[in-house]
Amino acid sequence: MIRVAIVGQGLVALHFEVGLEKLKHNLISDYGVPLRNLLPYKYSDIEVVAAYDVDESKVGKTIYELAKRYYDAPGEIPGTLKDIVVRRGIHLNSLKGLPFKARGREEEEGYENAVWSIIDEWKSLGVDIVVNVMTTEPVEPVGSLQELHERFKAGDLTASQTYAYMTALYSSKYKNAAFINVIPSPIANDPAYIEFFKESRGVVFGDDGATGATPLTADLLEHMYERNRKVIDIAQFNIGGNTDFLSLNLPERNIMKKITKSAMVSDILGYEAPNYIRPTGYLEPLGDKKFVAMIIEYYSFGEYKDELYIVWRVNDSPALAGLLVDLVRLGKIALDRQQYGTVYEVNAFYMKKPGPHGSKIISKYRAYQQLLQWVGIKDPRY
Ligand SMILES: NC(=O)c1ccc[n+]([C@@H]2O[C@H](COP(=O)([O-])OP(=O)(O)OC[C@H]3O[C@@H](n4cnc5c(N)ncnc54)[C@H](O)[C@@H]3O)[C@@H](O)[C@H]2O)c1
Repeated sequence: MIRVAIVGQGLVALHFEVGLEKLKHNLISDYGVPLRNLLPYKYSDIEVVAAYDVDESKVGKTIYELAKRYYDAPGEIPGTLKDIVVRRGIHLNSLKGLPFKARGREEEEGYENAVWSIIDEWKSLGVDIVVNVMTTEPVEPVGSLQELHERFKAGDLTASQTYAYMTALYSSKYKNAAFINVIPSPIANDPAYIEFFKESRGVVFGDDGATGATPLTADLLEHMYERNRKVIDIAQFNIGGNTDFLSLNLPERNIMKKITKSAMVSDILGYEAPNYIRPTGYLEPLGDKKFVAMIIEYYSFGEYKDELYIVWRVNDSPALAGLLVDLVRLGKIALDRQQYGTVYEVNAFYMKKPGPHGSKIISKYRAYQQLLQWVGIKDPRY
């Protein structure tokens, strides 16, 4: 069994929870789960045991109730989701500036009690994996382990940093655990966290799940490199209508995405190419199905200038939810193998900014081959 706790009961979490239950009952296919049924852990081995949020409209509701309200797909919502009630997490101002009424456990119990009461819940639930899908927040890496300990004690970390710290603490005291960070906060890219997870016999994967245009762009850049097509520039727009895009509209949160997305250009091409790659706007009627447009201009033989155009509508949250079905199983495999700290081969395929800090971003095609090798499975086609 793989027991999962979710941090951030938003759309991605909902698609993961509903999708997983449907998958277990053979109500949907497993399209969008890259490693499908090739892993030793089956879909039925995964169990979501807790979910945390700070939005007053979500805390205390069951996942089933939230799915009725926000899950937009045909078919029944699995009744098993009535058993999971959203618990209050720690807020630490992560929703500041956004139009939601939020209250954290620390406001009721004090910071230290809040932290330890959540860790106690994980202990009694036997949590193996904590998945971080909360709202993007501005975060700087901490750097040194000593400073990390001091800032945790003082309550001077952001919410996602605090949940990551709590997971390492829990892992060192009670049960080996993994923290899967699919938001842009630098956790797997922060040397202090890698060290702490190693010491705590835990695992951290991250950062920032690669779902929409980023992995596609990475593979297109690989194509350009392999054919020696000289990229002149890349322009990429992303416009969406979900609350993720709403929060990314705040400039200090948007910068987090820009950092994680544009590092790949020089890493894959081997040279800089002028680019504009980032979420560009919020348009509510688009909902969760975001609009992506991209142009890559390049020189071919004879210095002729070609242009590649992409126009795309992508269901945003389900794409990341599909990756999570792999990531929680891979987290458990890394724990079983005692590969503490982080695993680059996992991060390189699933993340926009693969940790540890300083790692190269490679195309997803190349990363897939390395991932299969790490897992120890053969590509079933060959
Ligand atoms: N394809 C994708 O959708 C995709 C890809 C990569 C990364 N991400 C990241 O995943 C995250 C979630 O995306 P989403 O579409 O589900 O967003 P969402 O806004 O629907 O959900 C985020 C949830 O986190 C909650 N939250 C905020 N602060 C919290 C705290 N301190 N403790 C607990 N919960 C807290 C919010 O109340 C909200 O319910 C975002 O950070 C996004 O950038 C999404």
